[in-house]
Amino acid sequence: MQKTLLFVTDLYYEAKGRNYYEEDLFLTSKLREDFQLVLCHPEDIETFEKDFDLIVFRNAGPVANFKDKYLAFRNRVAAGYLKTYNSFVGKADMKGKEYLIELTNAQFPVIPTIDTLESLHKLPNVETYIVKPKDGADSIGLEFAKKEELGDKMDAESKNTLVQSFINFEYEVSFYFIDKEFQYALYAPDKEKRWELKEYAPTEADLSFAERFIEWNNLDWGIQRVDACRNEQGELLLVELEDLNPYLSLLELTEETRRNFVKALKKSIQKALQA
Ligand SMILES: Nc1ncnc2c1ncn2[C@@H]1O[C@H](COP(=O)(O)OP(=O)(O)O)[C@@H](O)[C@H]1O
Ligand SMILES: [Mg+2]
Repeated sequence: MQKTLLFVTDLYYEAKGRNYYEEDLFLTSKLREDFQLVLCHPEDIETFEKDFDLIVFRNAGPVANFKDKYLAFRNRVAAGYLKTYNSFVGKADMKGKEYLIELTNAQFPVIPTIDTLESLHKLPNVETYIVKPKDGADSIGLEFAKKEELGDKMDAESKNTLVQSFINFEYEVSFYFIDKEFQYALYAPDKEKRWELKEYAPTEADLSFAERFIEWNNLDWGIQRVDACRNEQGELLLVELEDLNPYLSLLELTEETRRNFVKALKKSIQKALQA
């Protein structure tokens, strides 16, 4: 008997510049060659979760849109009742953007990030700052601010926002991993079009940069996307480590890269099922 997957996606989520449903139609058409699979909207997981061998959390859209259900789901997973893909032991985006503070303090190569005004000295002295909600995704709630505006834009009590220096980057680049294996990299040569992506050939140094974050996160299994920007000094800085539901731009890859990705994913899912 083939194992059963509850494939979680919001087919109709309108993401800027991306069609979630096209990617997931492709991916499910491939996964069903090896598994028995049913699609499920992210808000309906609880109804079906006990009936499947593995819950595959894919393009669910920002979980802030169904925060209570997401937290309840995380709690049920943590209680050991459910097996998920990705594994939910990650420390990055699946828990919000808080990890950027930890990585800043540990002197990882990330965009310097703080969550209290008292820490402002940890950021370079710049003209423009960016304020973003810790539970944000898809650029929701992103705001520019001058130094004197920061106090108003941050909630000192709830500490639910982050402040970063604004980076006038050259371009953004994303590195895609399954488990700890690098799969492919894509970059956005046109800064105004974050989701018009081209294949990027990473150097050894680029790969070491990305792998540091994958090692730090130490997921049991899953797909992760390391989003970075190249600053004016030529250095890579982490923008975000997507360890919950990274969009993969699968349909923009070459046939061969896409085929290899599907193969690696099937293997990784088998590993998760056997764990
Ligand atoms: N500190 C920053 N400086 C310059 N641009 C930024 C900065 N932070 C975010 N951005 C821009 O906003 C986009 C979304 O920010 P990100 O932190 O990835 O949040 P989200 O979770 O909403 O994707 C990035 O891809 C980048 O283009
Ligand atoms: Mg992002």
